Amino acid sequence: MSSFVSKRVQGLPPYLFSVIDEKKKRLQEKGVDVIDLGIGAPDLPTPDFIVDRLSKELNDPSNFKYSGYSGCQEFREAVADFYKRQYDVELDPNTEVLTLIGSKEGIAHAIPAMIDPGDAVLIPDPGYPVYRTATYLAGGDCIDLPLDSNDGYRPNFSRLSQTICEKAKLMFLNYPGNPTAATVELDVFEEAVAFAKKHQIGVIHDSAYGLVTFDQFHAPSILQVKNAKELAIEFGSLSKSFNMTGWRIGYVVGNSKIIRALSNIKSNIDTSQFLPIQKAAAEALKSDYKTVEQNNSIYNERLEKMLDALKGIGVNVEKPRGSFFIWAPVPKGFTSQQFAEKLLEEAGVIITPGNSFGPSGEGYFRISLSVPTNRLDEAVRRIKSLNLEVTKNVPNH
Ligand SMILES: Cc1ncc(COP(=O)(O)O)c(C=O)c1O
Repeated sequence: MSSFVSKRVQGLPPYLFSVIDEKKKRLQEKGVDVIDLGIGAPDLPTPDFIVDRLSKELNDPSNFKYSGYSGCQEFREAVADFYKRQYDVELDPNTEVLTLIGSKEGIAHAIPAMIDPGDAVLIPDPGYPVYRTATYLAGGDCIDLPLDSNDGYRPNFSRLSQTICEKAKLMFLNYPGNPTAATVELDVFEEAVAFAKKHQIGVIHDSAYGLVTFDQFHAPSILQVKNAKELAIEFGSLSKSFNMTGWRIGYVVGNSKIIRALSNIKSNIDTSQFLPIQKAAAEALKSDYKTVEQNNSIYNERLEKMLDALKGIGVNVEKPRGSFFIWAPVPKGFTSQQFAEKLLEEAGVIITPGNSFGPSGEGYFRISLSVPTNRLDEAVRRIKSLNLEVTKNVPNH
């Protein structure tokens, strides 16, 4: 009897955070006060001025019709405007910008827009799990792009074999990075674009955390590299920088042919995001970014507190310049999974085991700073009470 489920989906692991969520629910039902340092979803509210614009647009019935397939003009122009202001990059809002229902959706659909089944895709290891699973769903062949702590989690193209370089059709990059919190200067993108051009590889840069930075660091855009538009697209999201995770709004910019191909897939599947959400998001992108700075200073405070606390238990991690993650080595004698389970079962603290981000993540764990300071304090107190011993240090750049 058929299961009526494709072999491809039968081979798909359940989404990491939905598994952790199940465990969390079970413990909460038993009365455990669980502290969730797992998923990277901001706990802070969406700024009022964005919610106000949404409320205003909800009173206009003309907003209740379908959006244009590539998103509303105001939002695409706001994205182009943001790129000019933030990166001095010129974008044509009609051909080089596309509205997305969250960047996760766009990333997943961009893969079949750029590769055919059997084509190879270079996936950062460790990296955001969606790159791998969406490549698998598109029938692509995942090839690890190892990111080593000794290289500051930057790709080392000279270590890739000639066969891999010839086989690869697409490469993912993500800075500030999830889960490593690594950041780069423009030279890394310059090198990536030169490498990709030489081997005719399309590039997707995921800039979901592009505005979540500390200590005056401004994360570059890959489109600042001359001629990057010949082969690259860049994803952006309002989820983290404007605390809009549930609104599902993001964008992709760059190479117009890739964007047209992605738009072609999407117009056959969805009809863009609800217009009031796009207009409120445009308001966010057109703002003076004071709320982004306020958020960053809250994350910075949490980050410093957590780094201090980790130091207290022997985990020395260099302060990252972006994202709201800490990527750290697990204590001696544990695998990533065993450590995550110990913290959940004995301390009621959820962290993400490093191996869920790819084979190179084994031996590490990720902390997300998306809970208020008093909860972080409590998490630290509980972790300390476990009396753990730690072996190696990881620099975060
Ligand atoms: C690296 C990275 N890219 C993309 C996303 C997706 O963000 P969204 O779909 O909310 O725009 C996330 C979310 O956690 C992420 O960590």
